[in-house]
Order: sequence, then C-alpha cells, then structure tokens
Amino acid sequence: MKDTQHTRESLLSARLRQLADAGLTRQRRRLDSPSDPRVIVEGQTLLAFASNDYLGLAAHPDIIEALAQGARDWGAGSGASHLVSGHLKAHETLEARLAEFTGFDRCLLFSTGYLANLAVTPTLAAGRDDAVFADRLNHASLIDAARLSRARQYRYPHGDMAALERLLERSAAKTRVIVSDAVFSMDGDLAPLSVLFRLAERFDAWLVIDDAHGFGVLGQEGRGSLAHCGIGPDPRILLMATLGKAAGTGGAFVAGSALAIEYLLQKARSYIFTTAQPPAIAVATTKSLEILQKDEARRVHLRALIRQLRAGCAALPWRLLPSETAIQPLMLGENDKALALMRQLWRRGLWVAAIRPPTVPPGTARLRISLSAAHSEDDVAKLIAALRELA
Ligand SMILES: Cc1ncc(COP(=O)(O)O)c(C=O)c1O
Repeated sequence: MKDTQHTRESLLSARLRQLADAGLTRQRRRLDSPSDPRVIVEGQTLLAFASNDYLGLAAHPDIIEALAQGARDWGAGSGASHLVSGHLKAHETLEARLAEFTGFDRCLLFSTGYLANLAVTPTLAAGRDDAVFADRLNHASLIDAARLSRARQYRYPHGDMAALERLLERSAAKTRVIVSDAVFSMDGDLAPLSVLFRLAERFDAWLVIDDAHGFGVLGQEGRGSLAHCGIGPDPRILLMATLGKAAGTGGAFVAGSALAIEYLLQKARSYIFTTAQPPAIAVATTKSLEILQKDEARRVHLRALIRQLRAGCAALPWRLLPSETAIQPLMLGENDKALALMRQLWRRGLWVAAIRPPTVPPGTARLRISLSAAHSEDDVAKLIAALRELA
C-alpha cells in the first residue's frame, strides 16, 4: 500500500518538476481588492493590464446594485438545473434581452463559457459520420468540445481559409460544423468571419462562433464581431459569447435559430446536467446589457487607448501582434523572456500576464496586454514608458 502511494506521488512530483524545468509552472495571484485597473495583489498596489473586463463594468455601481437587488428578489442560488426547477424568471428575462440584442430567435443561458462551448459542437456533431472543422488557435474550451464530439476532427492552420475550403471539399460528412473564435483570445485578431460564413453556406455547414472577446466591444452598440462584419443572424450560425468579460458579470449564452436552441436545450449535456447560474447574476447581467448598449463612450475611449498603445510600442524591439481589439499581445518567443519581462514590469508596479504554452504554441510566449475602458491615457502612457525603459 505504502509503495503504491509512493509511486503515485513520485510520478506527480516528477511531472511537476518537468513543468518547472520548462518554465511552465503556473501561479495564482491573490487579489485583495475588486477587479479594476488599480488592484491590490498580495499587499502590493499594481496597475493591471491583465483582466478581460474590457469595458470596466465589473465594478459599475448600478450593476453591483442590480446584483444585490437580484439576490434580495430571487435568493442567492437557483437551487437546481434549468430543466428541473432552477429556471427562474430572472434567467428568462435575460435570455429574451440577449436574443433581442443579438438579433437571433432565441438564447440559452449557461453558467460559464466553457460549459456553453461544451454544449454546442458535441451536440451538433455527435456521430462518426459527422465532421468538425476548427481553427488551430481556437480556445481550449472549443478544442475540448470538439474532443467530446465523436465526429471526425479537422484542424486548419490559423485563419487559412483556402485550407478550410480544401478540407470541406473533400468531406463527405453528414453534418459539418465549422468552429472558430471570433476574436482569438491570445492573439487579439479577428477571424475572417465573412469567408467562414460563405464557406458554411456553400458546404451547408453549421457555423459555431465564439465571441467571448468581441461581445460588448465590437459592432454597433457592442453587438459583437458578427455585427462588426455585417453578418446577420442566420439560422446556420450558433453564436456563443461569455458574460464574464466585457459584460462584467459571469456566465455565457448561445444564440441561434429557435430550432437549434430547442435542440440544445433537449440534448446538450453541459446545459442539462448542471445547476443554473444564480438568478442575481442574470439580473446584474440584464442591467449590464442595458449599460453596455447605451454607453458608446466606453468603446470610443477603449479604441483611443488601443491606438495610443500601438503607436507607443511601435519602436520597441518586441513585436505587437496585429490586433485592433483590446487584446494586444507583445511577442517574446521564449518562456523565460516573457516571464522575465513580466517580473520587471511587476517590480515597476505594472501587471501584465505572461502567456506560455500550452495556452499558446511553443516558442510563442508573449505578454498579453489587455486594455479596458477603465484605463486612462495616463495608465497606458505609464506602461509604454516602462516597456521603453526595459527595452
Ligand atoms: C474564447 C473564449 N471562449 C470561452 C471562454 C470560456 O468562458 P468562461 O470564462 O465564461 O468559462 C474563454 C475564456 O475564459 C475564452 O477566452
């Protein structure tokens, strides 16, 4: 008994050492203050460029008040899954608002974006005669969703529409599902959504779009990446977006045709077998949606900060990846270099996350600078000055 325990544990220790040797150990940082550009991290005040709160809504007083009121009206938890007794009016109100906002027939609310993605692809492409076509840089939750599906998997090089077209031409699958991030989470670039949509039409495929990083930020009134690219709510599209990023609260939704959403409701395991999100969060998100839609000034300010950062970083020895979004990755290449720069910034009171494999491909470690409408021009100027000094 003792011996087997010893073997089990020494195996884990050896694997942890391997991670450490490769510079891949991850560390949590404890925040002693709410999500905001100015945070207290383990006792130290830092200016953070590390969250996905792109519009600065996580600390919005009206949304906090809506959350508190939601808890008073609806309780602290939903008590059950949606299909048992956990589907409250607060959830349904938010679903109706999201459907209206995105223009799709119907929406389904999920507790997290990870669960929402796990619901879509494996439910649409469930059999061995089906096929999933995925961008190589898709988010981990989309990759895991494709793995859960029993369909054949095809991964095309990032953004390579000619490669995708060739794969689709050769496919005899009964159901084809094309899956892509809209804004790539670690690169900040936008998928060629119009081409993806045309290919989906031509090959009669479903198009599953994860707009975690475009929702609220891009498009008229923040309606997201599809709206930004002029693509309307087509029945072959299933749109997923998270609510814990620009919307500032938590959870996610999938929008689509009434038929597709009803099918997910009936069949998607990560919808059926999990407790519904606390209704107060739905109330807070409904409030957030109202603010996000009306408050264009936040998006205008964010765009100005993006321009400021890109202009200020132009002369650095490290390359900023081409990105028009709030995600601005500074390429370092080696893991050690990314970590070293992150630590040097940290010592100057600035927090930018270093992103390493397996989150990104080997040799492409980077600092993921994440901007928010809650930053000021002065904040961005401080980051640029520190990077210039360290270069
Ligand atoms: C592109 C993308 N999709 C899905 C998710 C998962 O969303 P959630 O954090 O709500 O689980 C994330 C990030 O967390 C993401 O970046």
